[in-house]
Amino acid sequence: MVGGTKNGNPSASLSPQVRIIMGNWRNRVIIGAVIAAVAVVAFAYGRAIFGGPHRADADDPELVALGKAVYASHCAECHGANLEGQPDWRRPLEDGTLPAPPHDASGHTWHHADQLLFDYTKFGGQALAPPTFQSAMPGFEDLLSDREIWAVLSFIKSRWPAHVRARQEQMNPRRG
Ligand code: HEC
Repeated sequence: MVGGTKNGNPSASLSPQVRIIMGNWRNRVIIGAVIAAVAVVAFAYGRAIFGGPHRADADDPELVALGKAVYASHCAECHGANLEGQPDWRRPLEDGTLPAPPHDASGHTWHHADQLLFDYTKFGGQALAPPTFQSAMPGFEDLLSDREIWAVLSFIKSRWPAHVRARQEQMNPRRG
């Protein structure tokens, strides 16, 4: 036997091995690609269902920046460009509604948990208040995405001093 081959053709005896190696390699690539594809889909799906913010996060600069823009175009006209609210905001107006309160630390926004602020913004005051109360706070369900609502609340929170943020944080359910 010359060169360890049966028929004297070295490549003929090597090719099955090479083919097996190539085959394994190709299978691995295919399996790898399938796993990667499943992972990508699962990730995207997970983000769609569980993803996006579920709370206001004043430490997320991207969210705060988005919220700042949302605030300027949708909230500032009533709650004030500087979150200062409308003048004499504690006194009801003649039509029985309240002026818009400030969202800075001088108001009572920080007395509420994130979820309530979210619901108030999304569904409006009338949806949450007792029927006898006449709310002038519109709901933004049709105008803003959930992410934009969390963003504007993140922006509002970012304007509170640290101790106010800490107090308000205690009202939120604990995160895992
Ligand atoms: C047309 C005026 C108006 C606009 C615009 C408006 N609000 Fe209000 N908002 C009010 C009034 C008035 C109240 C007082 C409570 C009520 O009447 O229901 C209020 C109350 C609130 C409250 C509950 C009270 C508090 O301080 O916790 C939240 C939260 C709130 N607004 C968030 C927002 C956000 C966020 C935006 C912008 C996306 C916005 N509002 C835009 C008028 C407005």
